[in-house]
Amino acid sequence: PTGSLRDRLDRPLHDLRISITDRCNFRCVYCMPKEVFDKDYQYLPHNALLTFEEITRLARLFIEHGVEKIRLTGGEPLLRKNVERLVEMLAGLRTASGKPLDITLTTNGSLLARKAQSLKDAGLKRVTVSLDALDDAVFKRMNDVDFAVADVLHGIEVAHQAGLGPVKVNTVVKRGMNEQEVLPLARHFKGSPVILRFIEFMDVGSSNGWNMRDVVPSAEVVRMIGAEMPLAPIDPNYTGETAERWRYTDGGGEIGVISSVTQAFCKDCSRARLSTEGKLYTCLFASRGHDLRALLREGRSEAEISAAVGALWRVRSDRYSELRTINTDGLVQGARRKVEMSYIGG
Ligand code: GTP
Ligand code: 5AD
Ligand code: SF4
Ligand code: SF4
Repeated sequence: PTGSLRDRLDRPLHDLRISITDRCNFRCVYCMPKEVFDKDYQYLPHNALLTFEEITRLARLFIEHGVEKIRLTGGEPLLRKNVERLVEMLAGLRTASGKPLDITLTTNGSLLARKAQSLKDAGLKRVTVSLDALDDAVFKRMNDVDFAVADVLHGIEVAHQAGLGPVKVNTVVKRGMNEQEVLPLARHFKGSPVILRFIEFMDVGSSNGWNMRDVVPSAEVVRMIGAEMPLAPIDPNYTGETAERWRYTDGGGEIGVISSVTQAFCKDCSRARLSTEGKLYTCLFASRGHDLRALLREGRSEAEISAAVGALWRVRSDRYSELRTINTDGLVQGARRKVEMSYIGG
C-alpha cells in the first residue's frame, strides 16, 4: 500500500516536520514572548524527548506511507545535542520510490556558521534561516535577546559555501514591527543565491496576542516590492508548496510569499508534524496530538505503529486556515487552546 495513503480530503502524506527540541535561544515576540517563556517556564524533561533511535524508527515508517521530505524544527533544532548524528541516521533512509530523502532544517541561524559544514557532511541537503529584519535595532527588538543581524548573515553565507543551498530565508511580517524591513531585505538578497520568503503573521499557539490588524497581506508585500523591482509570478515547484513564487523580471532571482492567513493553502496540505515528545499533529493549529511515543515505549511492533499512523491520516480532515480565511475581519486570537509553535515547529 506504499504511498497510496490519502486523508478525507484526498491529500497524501508527503512531508514530515519533526520538532527536536522545545527550547530556543531567541525570544521572538511573535513566537516565544519573554513574559510567557521566562526563567520559570517548564520545558520538557530530557526523558520526554524522542531519542534519535525513536525518531529514526518513526521516520522510516512515515516514509513507507509516502513521506519524501523531512524537516527538522524546534524550538531551535541546532540546540539539540549531537543533531548531526540524527541527520546522519535520517540520511541513511531511502524513500519508498527509492529517491533520496529531502532532508532540511529550519534554524534561527545563531549556530549555523559553527555547524554548517558538519551538518552538510552528515547528509543535510539544505537549510531555511529565519531573519525578520536587516536593521539591527529592529531585529534585536524582534528576537528580544540582542542577537545581531550580522551574525545571522554570516551563518547564511557559511551555509551557502558549505553547499546547503539554495538557502531560503523566512521573514515573518508583522504590522508596526518590521513592515519597513520588507524593501531593505528584498534589495539585500536580490541577485544573490538566497531565496527570500515573506510569511504572514499567523495566529498559531495561544500566547502571541495575534490580531488581524497585525497581518500584512502578501498582496501588499508583492505590491511594495514590485513597485520598485518589477515582479512576475512563476509556477510552484511542487503541488502543495506553501510559498507563492515571484521572479524579478530583470533576472535578479526570485522571492516567495506565504499567505496562510489571506490565501490559505490547506487544499494540498500534505504535512504531518511530530512534536518534541512524539505526538503526531495533523495540523499546525491542532489542539491535541496523538501519542506515538507511548506506542514506541509500550513495545508495539512496527506494523502496529504503522497501522496507527495510517489510520490517523485516513481520518484527517483539518483545514484550519481555510476555515479562518472565510471570515477574518476583526478577528483576534481565538480562545481555543492551540499548541505553541515552539513546541510543534513551524
Ligand atoms: P520548502 O521545502 O523550502 O518549500 O519549505 P516549506 O515552505 O515547506 O517550509 P518552511 O518551513 O520554510 O515553511 C515556511 C513557513 O510557512 C513556516 O514557518 C510556517 O510559518 C508556514 N507554514 C508551513 N507549513 C504550514 C502549514 O502547513 N500551515 C500553515 N498555516 N503554515 C505553514
Ligand atoms: N506566524 C508566522 N510565522 C511564524 N513563525 C513562528 N511564529 C510564527 C507566526 N506566529 C515562523 C518563524 C520561522 C518558522 C519556524 O516559523 O519565523 O521562520
Ligand atoms: Fe526561536 Fe524560531 Fe520561535 Fe524565534 S521563531 S523564538 S528563533 S523558535
Ligand atoms: Fe495544513 Fe493545517 Fe496549515 Fe491548513 S492550517 S495548511 S491543514 S497545517
